[in-house]
Amino acid sequence: MRKVDVRLHRDFAIGETDPRLFGAFVEHLGRCVYGGMFEPGHPKADKQGFRKDVLALVRELAPTILRYPGGNFVSGYNWEDGVGPVKKRPRRLDLAWMSTETNEFGTNEFVDWCKAAKIEPMLAVNLGTRGADAARNLVEYCNHPGGTAWSDLRKAHGWAKPHDIKFWCLGNEMDGPWQMEAKTATEYGRVAVEAAKMMRWIDPTIELAACGSSGRKMATFGAWEDTVLEHTFDHVEFISLHTYLNNYAGDTEAFLASPDLMDSFIDEVVAIADAVAAKRRSSKRIMLSFDEWNVWYRTRRNRNERVKSGWPVAPEILEEVYNVEDALAFGGACISLLNHADRVRTACLAQLVNAIAPIMTETGGPAWKQTIFYPFQHFTNFGHGRVLRAQVDSPTYKANYFDPSGAQDLYFPIPEASYLKLSAVHDAKSGMLTLFALNRSLGEEMPLEVDAGGFSKLEVDQAIELRDRDLKAVNTKTAPTRVKPSPLSGVEVKRGSIKAKLKPASWNVIRLKAS
Ligand code: AHR
Repeated sequence: MRKVDVRLHRDFAIGETDPRLFGAFVEHLGRCVYGGMFEPGHPKADKQGFRKDVLALVRELAPTILRYPGGNFVSGYNWEDGVGPVKKRPRRLDLAWMSTETNEFGTNEFVDWCKAAKIEPMLAVNLGTRGADAARNLVEYCNHPGGTAWSDLRKAHGWAKPHDIKFWCLGNEMDGPWQMEAKTATEYGRVAVEAAKMMRWIDPTIELAACGSSGRKMATFGAWEDTVLEHTFDHVEFISLHTYLNNYAGDTEAFLASPDLMDSFIDEVVAIADAVAAKRRSSKRIMLSFDEWNVWYRTRRNRNERVKSGWPVAPEILEEVYNVEDALAFGGACISLLNHADRVRTACLAQLVNAIAPIMTETGGPAWKQTIFYPFQHFTNFGHGRVLRAQVDSPTYKANYFDPSGAQDLYFPIPEASYLKLSAVHDAKSGMLTLFALNRSLGEEMPLEVDAGGFSKLEVDQAIELRDRDLKAVNTKTAPTRVKPSPLSGVEVKRGSIKAKLKPASWNVIRLKAS
């Protein structure tokens, strides 16, 4: 491949990454909570039943904020079921995942778990089967100091201090027919604005995210955002986006190009949000909460299939085993998020443990890292700072990405996928410049030259690559480190230019110390 050139300058930035860009998501889904984060009786569980081996991996992974309790689950959830004496909590049928919910783990346990993991909690309220009243009561239960029925109930349950939860999602994927009590944009806009008003009247310090489309391929995408924001513009700070990448077609080049559609999705939602602002002559800018993103396709199942297995507790569902090419596409998604740091202020990897997750566990057994653990760890550990505006001059390829939607087979052309997908982040505090670089060529090594202006002296601190000749290689319980990063050799800096050779189909992280 010909030389790929990148030009950037220390003074030209897209924006500063918000700490909440590096979030994750846990749902009452399969073994994410039960048998994943929470497993009383497990040899490594603490006295609250939190698995310490999982907590240790989560600390390495370092997500900053955690969305809970769903997902599809939240649209049928009675939060009151999950608080108070555990023995008295009801068992319920969960129609999202056709399982039995025992409610042994609820809001207070989640907040404690977040404290143990040093992560900010984020809550979603049920705007499906419930509404504004249940939502405002939950804010009162969580955030009001005391002296009212709901806040005193929290105290009686053993949590004297308010949880002080700042970030709240107004429902989940309310545009999706799979959702309990899905809504039209107008129906949702009305419920969301009333819930938002009441929740904020209780606690004016909270931040609120309205539901955007559950995917760019939804037929209502665009019109949905427009209508929802027409209703909620004055009452929310964020609109949400969700994306799950896939390789159903077995077309790896198109799969690796697919994060570029996340870039388009972000640009389109920004345009719609700003058009709603323009109609009001408003300088307010709605920020984006990309609060579900990942690779997910092998373990999608419809309700009819799930129903055959009865109503199990914590079934082994959505336990996607991630391979090397998944980790590469996933790394591309991290780059898309970084390169929109000016508007995407919150993002949540869906999910954290067992269900479409970077961390896997065996119930009663060990925990291990999936391939996608590594790019996410690099993203959360090295992505903080100012994202620089990088100009990439790379050969491109044409891709046609397949993304089925219900009964419809949809193809999304990507006419110019650049073989190099890159993001550059400068952390002024530590003086580190980090390059996240994905070589999307399956067959060719990429000679890379980065002209980094404005840095007086750069020295290579660390260079890492994640790749494997076998793009289908995975980590398992018996081979938990089959796929892992290794040092990237041969990176050098000469007269302000960083030179490296990126192996075909590789995720690379180059860290430079700037003096
Ligand atoms: O993360 C799995 C599911 O994907 C979530 O419950 C839902 O919001 C989305 O459709």
